Amino acid sequence: MMFDQTIRPRRLRAGDPLRRMVRETRVSPDSLIYPVFLAEGNGIYREIPSLPGQYHYSPDELPRLTERLQAHGVSRVLLFGLPAQKDAEGSSAWAENGIVQQGIRRLRELMPSLYIVTDVCMCEYTSHGHCGILCGCEVDNDRTLERLAGIALSHAQAGADMVAPSDMMDGRVAAIRAKLDANGFQNVPILAYSAKYASSFYGPFRDAAGSAPSFGDRRAYQMDWHNAREAMRECELDVREGADILMIKPALAYLDLIHEARNRFDLPLAAYAVSGEYAMVKAAAAAGLIDEHGVMCESAIAVFRAGADILITYYACELADAMRAGEIG
Ligand code: PBG
Repeated sequence: MMFDQTIRPRRLRAGDPLRRMVRETRVSPDSLIYPVFLAEGNGIYREIPSLPGQYHYSPDELPRLTERLQAHGVSRVLLFGLPAQKDAEGSSAWAENGIVQQGIRRLRELMPSLYIVTDVCMCEYTSHGHCGILCGCEVDNDRTLERLAGIALSHAQAGADMVAPSDMMDGRVAAIRAKLDANGFQNVPILAYSAKYASSFYGPFRDAAGSAPSFGDRRAYQMDWHNAREAMRECELDVREGADILMIKPALAYLDLIHEARNRFDLPLAAYAVSGEYAMVKAAAAAGLIDEHGVMCESAIAVFRAGADILITYYACELADAMRAGEIG
């Protein structure tokens, strides 16, 4: 023998009972949030071409969603809305009878135990597809803040449990906090999309939500993916502005930031495994190139191992099953 073999890491890999005992990363379905696309109208239950296995639901079709959630034991959702009408100011985003507001009320009736988070942004509601109010060709940060605060308030009034601003305007967490507090919603937490990058991984979502910008791109407000320190600055600002939970987005290509944010901040940390991450796995699996289930499990655990407490994922139902079966976690 070349050297002393008293130390053998393989000893702890012998057999499933032992491997499961010494797992370092423990996960539960309580950590999962499932993104859902609500579409204004009736009788809409339509598979989303860019996101195989995901659907658009009109409010009357939501029993299909709640049955699915209950079957898999998923009890947290993140709502996005596709309005029937868009305009330059995105006014359907804060309408009392807007699509997300309708959806919240319907989901409350159908599944009282459901925890409802809403995405707060304007890009699905504006005719130009940008995340705020335009001034010329630029998004006007401070005018947008008032609108975002109004959207968050209307979601809270409709019964949302938590709001999640995804627009990347400066100061929006403070603006939303102030608006909610002034209207009696002190206890509605804010999940801040703190470090959200100008990512090509959002492509399938923009098809699903009809929210691609009609000109330009989002690099003047979403982050440059060359930057890591700046992400910590964004997190720090959100902490100071009163965020309750921080988020890094996308997830898999940004594990370094999840890890760093975990080390620096005490707030719960979420990561969003975005549409492109899901669509790539689906496409590779459909082409027979990878084992979908295995890649799904491994990718999710990587995000938790990096330090996330919460994972927002289109695979929430399948992951919840894998966790309950003890395959992961
Ligand atoms: C809205 C929003 C986007 C996503 C979440 N909220 C799209 C974007 O910023 O263009 C992306 C989610 C995904 O890709 O799954 N601003």
